[in-house]
Amino acid sequence: MTGPAEPGARFPKTLVVVHSWHHGNTRRVAETIARTLGAEVRTPDRADPASFGEYDLVGLGAGIDSGRHYRPILDLADRLPPGDGRRAFLFSTCGIPAAFARGEEFERQVDANHAELRAKLLDRGYAIAGEFSCVGFNTNSFLRYFGGLNRGRPDAGDLARAAEFARGLAGRES
Ligand SMILES: Cc1cc2nc3c(=O)[nH]c(=O)nc-3n(C[C@H](O)[C@H](O)[C@H](O)COP(=O)(O)O)c2cc1C
Repeated sequence: MTGPAEPGARFPKTLVVVHSWHHGNTRRVAETIARTLGAEVRTPDRADPASFGEYDLVGLGAGIDSGRHYRPILDLADRLPPGDGRRAFLFSTCGIPAAFARGEEFERQVDANHAELRAKLLDRGYAIAGEFSCVGFNTNSFLRYFGGLNRGRPDAGDLARAAEFARGLAGRES
């Protein structure tokens, strides 16, 4: 299920910020998470760092470039006010071949891809409420000459997992 949760359910007031330019892959994940939580989605240039204090939960996500989140999301994290224990979640899409994007190996890869953004959020006093990643269509560099990798990703299964992740965030206290 990727739609909003049951009417009357209570959700944390949530802001989702995403930078997604390559194929809109991470934007689709962001929109699924936001729809599930009844949240708004902004891009880093339209997210006022000072407004973060108005939310119970904030999510930052982007595609992965050179093993870390895209620069505009990292730069936004640098401008955030102190989190004072506010809950934050991270998400991303990455371009590794889907065949390798499972199990512990993928967990390790995501852990590494998210390390820089995670460290910035922890440094500012945010509590990490969860992390999500899946593969996305990738035509970077020479891949474009071969039709790209992971065509059609994120797919319905990826987005269902993103929605499940979001419901888990809503249910958790910290
Ligand atoms: C310039 C560039 C660099 C990339 N570097 C990586 C990388 O280091 N690791 C990786 O897994 N994917 C990498 N990718 C693939 C993207 O992270 C992936 O396609 C992602 O889904 C794009 O997200 P977006 O459509 O939201 O921008 C790179 C893509 C581009 C265009």
